[in-house]
Amino acid sequence: MIPLLEVEGLEVVYGHAIRAIQGVSFFVEEGRIVGLLGLNGAGKTTTIRAISGFLPTENVHITDGRLRFAGNSILGMRPFATAWLGIAVVPERDKVFDTLTVRENLAVALIAARSGNDEAARCRRYRSIDDILTLFPALARRIDHDAVLLSGGERQMLAIGACLLSSPRLLIVDEASLGLAPILRRQLFAMLAELNRELGLTMLIVDQDVAGVLAIADHGYILENGRVVFAGTREELLSHGDVKEFYLGQTQDRERGYRKVKQYRRIRRWH
Ligand SMILES: Nc1ncnc2c1ncn2[C@@H]1O[C@H](COP(=O)(O)OP(=O)(O)OP(=O)(O)O)[C@@H](O)[C@H]1O
Ligand SMILES: [Mg+2]
Repeated sequence: MIPLLEVEGLEVVYGHAIRAIQGVSFFVEEGRIVGLLGLNGAGKTTTIRAISGFLPTENVHITDGRLRFAGNSILGMRPFATAWLGIAVVPERDKVFDTLTVRENLAVALIAARSGNDEAARCRRYRSIDDILTLFPALARRIDHDAVLLSGGERQMLAIGACLLSSPRLLIVDEASLGLAPILRRQLFAMLAELNRELGLTMLIVDQDVAGVLAIADHGYILENGRVVFAGTREELLSHGDVKEFYLGQTQDRERGYRKVKQYRRIRRWH
């Protein structure tokens, strides 16, 4: 079976000089949750912007690689075209319209969804504002509040809810956990896992929280300096010595661990 999303040898250069992405390859099979993981500046957001078409139009170039969605090339497509095919992105920042209420935010998403490609749609479960409010009761309590007043977790729910209205085939969530307390983070990841189980919705979850994402993902890819340095199933990554030590903070000897992490980062930087 062809994977839903295939990224092969992707290379992205900013300003003719910074090779932010240096030959990244990974794939996402239909119905799976895949984690694209790594620390600040690893290249996660750049990668998904290349996929979704949200890279700036100036001063940045995809210099190599292939991007395929459902077997067809999406290389160089603009955001409206990838959205039409069924790729929905919850962005890292500016997830919602601050000056619109929760209801207005969902209404805007609904208008966009109605002009979408019904054939490509997969998850038809959430089709009205009420459907989203049933899924996220916390939003129902804030329905007429301006989005600027929402908490971090509520903003995240609103952004995900707005994406679900477009019945995506692939949901990409960039930094779902950013700024959330650990317990909210776990709840949010659990909610994404439930959506995946219930709807079979394919997800690419982009995050720094390796442990949090691997708790729900089938596969993971860890990026460092624009390259995939670890890849595997959840079990393979969770039992990998270096991943355990440098990304999950599981080490026998704390002092040694700290020094090694610093040394490891230095080595990796020039890899
Ligand atoms: N518009 C830009 N112009 C120049 N360089 C950029 C631009 N956007 C990102 N970069 C560089 O590309 C590299 C990857 O950045 P990117 O935002 O993709 O990382 P990230 O993994 O999403 O990090 P974070 O976890 O902080 O969101 C970084 O070195 C960053 O400085
Ligand atoms: Mg990012």
